[in-house]
Amino acid sequence: MHSPPHESAAKHVSGEAVYIDDIRADEQLLVGRVVYSPHAHAQIKSFDLSEAKKILGVHAVLCHKDIPGHNQMGPVVKDELCLAESELICVGQAMFVIAAETEDQCLEAERRIKVEYDLLEPILTIEKALERNSLLGPPRTMKRGDPDATIKSAPHVIKGELRTGAQEHWYLETQVCLCVPGEGKEINVYSSTQHPSETQTLIAELLGIGKNEVVVEVRRMGGAFGGKETQGNHTACWAALLCWHTKRPVKIRLFRDDDQKITGKRHRFLSHYEVGFDNEGRILAAKYQLNSDGGCATDLSFAIMERAMLHADNAYYAPNMEVVGRVCKTNLPSNTAFRGFGGPQGMAVAETVVDRIARHLKKDSAEIRRKNFYGLDSNNVTHYGEAVENNHLFIIYDQLVKSSDYWQRRNEINEFNAANEFYKKGLALTPVKFGISFTTTFLNQAGALVNVYKDGTILVNHGGTEMGQGLHTKMQQVAAAEFGVSLGRVKVNATNTSKIPNTSATAASAGTDLNGMAVKNAVDTLKSRIAETMSQVFTEKHPNPPTNKQDIAFQNDMIFDLMHPERKIAFADAMPLMQLRQVSLSATGYYKTPGIGWDKEKGWGRPFHYYAFGMCVSEVVVDVLTGRHTNLRTDILHDAGDSLNPLIDLGQVEGGYVQGVGWCTTEEIKWDDKGNLMTHSPDTYKIPSVQDIPKDFRVALLENVPNPNTIRRSKAVAEPPLMLALSTWLAMKDAVSAVANHEIEPEFSLPATNEVIVLSVEGLKKQMSGRDVEVLIKKE
Ligand code: MTE
Ligand code: HPA
Ligand code: MOS
Repeated sequence: MHSPPHESAAKHVSGEAVYIDDIRADEQLLVGRVVYSPHAHAQIKSFDLSEAKKILGVHAVLCHKDIPGHNQMGPVVKDELCLAESELICVGQAMFVIAAETEDQCLEAERRIKVEYDLLEPILTIEKALERNSLLGPPRTMKRGDPDATIKSAPHVIKGELRTGAQEHWYLETQVCLCVPGEGKEINVYSSTQHPSETQTLIAELLGIGKNEVVVEVRRMGGAFGGKETQGNHTACWAALLCWHTKRPVKIRLFRDDDQKITGKRHRFLSHYEVGFDNEGRILAAKYQLNSDGGCATDLSFAIMERAMLHADNAYYAPNMEVVGRVCKTNLPSNTAFRGFGGPQGMAVAETVVDRIARHLKKDSAEIRRKNFYGLDSNNVTHYGEAVENNHLFIIYDQLVKSSDYWQRRNEINEFNAANEFYKKGLALTPVKFGISFTTTFLNQAGALVNVYKDGTILVNHGGTEMGQGLHTKMQQVAAAEFGVSLGRVKVNATNTSKIPNTSATAASAGTDLNGMAVKNAVDTLKSRIAETMSQVFTEKHPNPPTNKQDIAFQNDMIFDLMHPERKIAFADAMPLMQLRQVSLSATGYYKTPGIGWDKEKGWGRPFHYYAFGMCVSEVVVDVLTGRHTNLRTDILHDAGDSLNPLIDLGQVEGGYVQGVGWCTTEEIKWDDKGNLMTHSPDTYKIPSVQDIPKDFRVALLENVPNPNTIRRSKAVAEPPLMLALSTWLAMKDAVSAVANHEIEPEFSLPATNEVIVLSVEGLKKQMSGRDVEVLIKKE
C-alpha cells in the first residue's frame, strides 16, 4: 500500500496547523489560571479571596462554592473534585481558578490569595501505602492451575522484586482549553483532549446543564500519549467554569512546569515474582504480585492494573499462573493512562523473569524466550483464557534473528567484553504480544458521519481524535479507498461532539480499528443509495438489459456498470444527479467489535479482538565507570497487518520504541519527602534526545500478514512498539552482567539510569571481591 503523507504534514512544518493556542479569539479573551495545593496532605482551615479579586483586570477568582452543578471530574469513579473543598490530597490539586486580562494579573491575584492550612501526614510510597492498607479498591486476582504446588515441586525457582518507574508524558502541547460562550447556556469548548465526549459530559455536569448545550471540538492535539485520555478534562472543566462566570472566552494553557506538577504520570509499580521452571528453562508456574501507585484518586488506575495483569505473561506460556494486582492510594497526583496502559509494567516483570531464567541456567536469553513462546497449536491459551490466534512470534523471531545477525554479534560482543575492562557491550532480544481492544468491552464502539457534497467532495466525521498518530490520514485513506476516489476528494473534519455523540476515548490503540470500520459502514450506506439510483439512471438510458444495483462499481473516481463498462459517469458528475433524484448524501456509520467479551470478576474470557506482535534486538555499550550508555544498534520487526500507511506506521514504531527507551533508561521521576515533584522541567527530567536514538536503527514491518476481520486487514500499531524498548533495557543489564563475566546477576531496576548502572556495577564488584576472599580462604 502506498503511504500518503500525514494529512497535516505540510501545515505542521509551515506552522499553519492550528492548535488550541493558535485559535483566533477576540479582544474579549481572558487568560485563566489554576491555583493548586502546595501540600501533599492538608486541611484547608480558611481562605480569603477578597484581595485577589481587587486586582485590576481580574474578572473572576472562584472556589468550589462557585460551581453551579457537581463539583466532580472523576472519569470512572466520582472521587476527583474539580476544586478542593476542605481536604487537600496532593501537591497540584486545584483549589481556585482565576480569570484576568493578562497572565501577570493572574499571577498577582494568586499572590494575594490567603489560605491557612493544617498539615497532615502524607503517604508518598507504595511501601507505606501497602503497610497502611491504603488502596483505591480491593485487590484483584487472575489465576489458572495450581502455581503454589507446581513451584514447590519445580526443579528451579527464582524469586525477586522489580521496580518500574513513573513516566511523564511530555506532549509538546501542554494541557490547554479555550471556552467560548454561546447564547443562553451554550458553551463551545476547544479542548486538547483524547476524549471529547467525556469532556462534554463533565462540563455539562459541572455547570448543571444538558450535554446538548456543550459542544467540544478537537482539531488536533500536539501529542497526548494517554495523558489527555482523562486529564485533558481537568483544564477544560476549569476553563469552562471561568467562562460560565465571566461570560467571556477563557483560555487556560498550563505552563510546562505546572503541567508536570499537576498532571498524573505512568503508574510506577513495585512487583514481586516467584517462578518455577525446568532444566530446559520452560516456565512451569508463575506467581506475580503487581502493586501500582495510583496516586490520590482512581482515574483509570483499575483498567491500567487490569491491562498490566493481562500482560504479565507477555509472549510466554505459563501453564500455572497467578497474578494479583493492588492499586495503592498515595498523596501524589492521580496517575493515568500512558502509552501501553499498564502493559509495559506487566511485561517488564515477564521479561525480567525470562532473562533471569536464562542467567540462572547460563543459557542465551533469546533461546529461552523462544522456548517459552505461546505455541501455534498447543500451549496457546493465556492465563485469562484467550487463545493466541494468528501467532506471528515464530516467524518474526526467525526473520529477526537472521536479519540482525544475532548469534554472530553475540560472539563478537563476548570477544569485545573479554578484551575491555571499562566498556562492556550487551545484547538482548525481546518480543511484544499486546492485546488490542479496550478491556472495558463496551468501549469498543465508534461512530461516523460522512457527507458527500454536490461537487463530489467528501467530508468525513468520525469519533476519533488526532494526536499526531495519523488517524485522520488513515480515515481519509479508508473513505477514499471505499468510495474508489482520489484522496484529494476527501477531507476529515475536526472531531466534534455535535457530529458524533457518545464516543469512546481515542485510546487502546484502537482508533483506526474502530473508527475505520464506522467510516466504512457510513460509506457502504451511501454507496448503496447511490448504486440504487445509478442503476435506475443507466437502465432508463439502456433498458436492455437493465443495470443491476449489485453491478455498480466505484473505482478511479468513476461510477460504472461492471457488466456494461460503457455505462459510466464521473463520481463528481453523479452527485448533482443524486440531489435531483432526492437521494440523501449524508449517512452515519457505526461499529462495535464483534466476538469479544469476558468475565472481569473471574478474569476469564476473550478481552481482545486480536494481538499485535513485534520483536526487537538491541545492542548497547556501557561505560562501567560512569554508567553512561550508548544505543549502538536496534533492529525491529513489527506486525502491522496489511498496513494502511507503512510510513506512518514506521513512524509509530520508531516513536513508540524511542519513547519506551526514555522510560527504560533516562526518564526518572523524583519527589521530595513532602510530595513535591523535583523533576518538573526538561533540565531535571531527561526525555530521549537525538543522541538516544540508536546509531544504527533498522525498522521494518512484517510482510504478508493480512489481519482478518479488521479495516482493510490492517492491525493497530500505536502502543505495542513502546514495549520493544525492554530489549534496550535488558541489553544494558547484559552489559553490566559482563562485568562479572555473567557469573553473578546484577540488581537492576527500571529506568536503568547512570546511577542504577554504577550502583549495579559496584554491587557486582563487591560480590566478586567477596568471592575472591572465599576462594582464598578455601585455598588456604
Ligand atoms: N503518536 C503520536 N504522534 N502522538 C500521540 O499522542 N499516542 C499514542 C499512540 N501514538 C500518540 C501516538 C497512544 S497512547 C495511543 S492509545 C494511540 O496513539 C491512539 O491512537 P490510535 O488508536 O488512533 O492509534
Ligand atoms: N486502554 C486504554 N484506555 C482504556 C482502556 C484500555 O484498555 N480501558 C479503558 N480505557
Ligand atoms: Mo493510549 S495510553 O491508550 O491513550
